[in-house]
Amino acid sequence: MARFHTLTVTDVHKTIRDAVVLTLAPMGGDFDFVQGQYLTFRRDFDGEELRRSYSICAGKDEGILQVGIKRVDGGTFSTWVNENIKVGDQMEAMQPMGSFHTATSENDGKSYLAFAGGSGITPILSILKTVLTREPNSEFTLVYANRGVSSIMFREELEDLKNLYLGRLTIIHILETDSQDIDLFTGRVDVEKCALLFKHWIDIKSVDMAYICGPEPMMLTISKSLKDHGLDDNQIKLELFASGQPGRAKRKAKSVDAASHTGTTKATIIMDGSTRSFTMPKDGVTLLEAAIENNIDAPFACRAGVCASCRAKLLEGEVEMVANHALEDYEVEQGYILTCQCYPMSDKIVVDYDQ
Ligand code: FES
Repeated sequence: MARFHTLTVTDVHKTIRDAVVLTLAPMGGDFDFVQGQYLTFRRDFDGEELRRSYSICAGKDEGILQVGIKRVDGGTFSTWVNENIKVGDQMEAMQPMGSFHTATSENDGKSYLAFAGGSGITPILSILKTVLTREPNSEFTLVYANRGVSSIMFREELEDLKNLYLGRLTIIHILETDSQDIDLFTGRVDVEKCALLFKHWIDIKSVDMAYICGPEPMMLTISKSLKDHGLDDNQIKLELFASGQPGRAKRKAKSVDAASHTGTTKATIIMDGSTRSFTMPKDGVTLLEAAIENNIDAPFACRAGVCASCRAKLLEGEVEMVANHALEDYEVEQGYILTCQCYPMSDKIVVDYDQ
């Protein structure tokens, strides 16, 4: 199965000086997405393949596929996109992935709260637009943190949305360096600021669901503040790419002893309806690496346990998953693993990528 599909760039526009929004037209492949999902792109740079994931910023009902890509200092892929990409170019991407969303229902009248930091706005924007369109009785509050006015991505679009959904969409910009009329809206989003926001501006008791996407320290602070103010884990969704994310279950072998880390394992991989087997060491090589070494076109993106591109179901045997920042606890209980983070513990394992 071709896991990557060709997308044609049909529009490029700069949302701020160092970030672009790409509109993409898929040429084949199923690119129906859920709000808050992301695309994983791949491209060769001087013979080395790079894969990078970027969130979809379009709403589910807009009829377009759009991603926002902010240039990262020293980031090969994001710099290439920001400086070189033009209408008519082609990119390769996997189908949309990710679970940073909750189901919408036309009859729901919910109160949503989202915190975004910098380019963390992209999946939040997709969620916000989808919720406001699909749930006419719901309301949405966005707290958007940036360094200054010039680094606010989608600033005009957010203003337009605020006017379109007057009374249902509230946007609070927190700017680190630029002063604003209200002192509380200047500075970093820390514990004190969250407490004051919840006291004076946001009715935290009425919040049904909260989304957070941004730098890890900010996400940890906000998540803790939300819990301190009465939300439970099921009401908070976090999204983070490319660096560690706390708090999800890891899968441990039943008995982790030295003997279980030695010798070899017979690994059987089910993918695209076919079954392949190979022998791999129990130590030093992840299941994903072993599969790729054995010429299996196993999916992956971050290789850091964050994106879930490499998700598969363990049907037989035991593995140790050393990091998990992507799977929900219930998925781990059902046997799902991140193959980029797994080492075999038993003499035989069977893993299914098709489930
Ligand atoms: Fe991203 Fe494994 S490749 S979680």
